[in-house]
Amino acid sequence: MENIKPIPVILEGDPGHDDAIAWVLANSTDRLKILGVCTSAGNQTIEKTTYNAQRILTLIGYKGPLAKGRTRPLIEEPMNAPSVHGESGLDGPVLPEPEIEPVEEDSVVLMARLIEESEEPVTLVPTGPLTNIAALLTERPDLKPKIARISLMGGGLASGNWTPAAEFNILVDPEAADVVFRSGVPILMAGLDVTEKALIFPEDFERIRAVGNPVAKVVAEWLEFFYHFHRDIGYTGAPVHDPCAVAALLHPEIMTMKDVHVDIELTGKYCRGMTVADMYGSTDKKPNVRAILNIDRKAFADLLVEAVKAYDEK
Ligand code: RIB
Ligand code: CA
Repeated sequence: MENIKPIPVILEGDPGHDDAIAWVLANSTDRLKILGVCTSAGNQTIEKTTYNAQRILTLIGYKGPLAKGRTRPLIEEPMNAPSVHGESGLDGPVLPEPEIEPVEEDSVVLMARLIEESEEPVTLVPTGPLTNIAALLTERPDLKPKIARISLMGGGLASGNWTPAAEFNILVDPEAADVVFRSGVPILMAGLDVTEKALIFPEDFERIRAVGNPVAKVVAEWLEFFYHFHRDIGYTGAPVHDPCAVAALLHPEIMTMKDVHVDIELTGKYCRGMTVADMYGSTDKKPNVRAILNIDRKAFADLLVEAVKAYDEK
């Protein structure tokens, strides 16, 4: 089989249980080359998400650079989600104390340097609010040709989850999302349309727990924590949002996608932060987003089981 060059990626998130699992997945395969990991403020404050990132990256044996993101949205007041991820932002299993420290550069400076230094165009994989990605695109528009695509978790073409219209990552910083969606950089959007079909059930996280290595045990506990929260609010399973943005790069064949034009609503009384999609071409706006609409749930669960197995020998 011909050698397929690994996709150079920069991961960015607000861990967050599902961000953490997205990073476990990304780090489990040689098909992605993680140039760097950056944090954003969202599920919790930047201090807490960065501390969580240090512990996650220690657990999975990541040795590359980590950079701390900006502390607050471009305009919106800061918003967190302790009700979902806990006061720490990553409540549940005990994690190792950090063996990695953030670099001096802030995340925007690090992302710019890594993109400049990369021989290949880089894929950005943000799974939290888009504050830092927007700052990068605004401060360094010259780097856009070296950004292959942005594979993000965010938005929802049919509904929101933090308000009836808006999904959390977009709502935390709508102005940032507007910059990103208008940037002209190709966007692969794992919105609620697909992530709420990426449901993990107890039999899935028990399969992961049975793999038995330390990473598998922690991922099973993260999923169990996430499952119990969502079960208590009426879900049948845990919608594991963020790993969908990574799975879309590795296994697009388990998904269905549609190219659409998406605008970000900034002024709506009820709809601020909504990803407004022209699903049927009712405007003359060209598509700016490849939106993921569906997923083979069983194949997705199998993907997570295979991912943790990669840590047997690590
Ligand atoms: O709405 C789901 C998103 O919000 C996920 O990225 C989750 O981690 C939270 O950031
Ligand atoms: Ca997230």
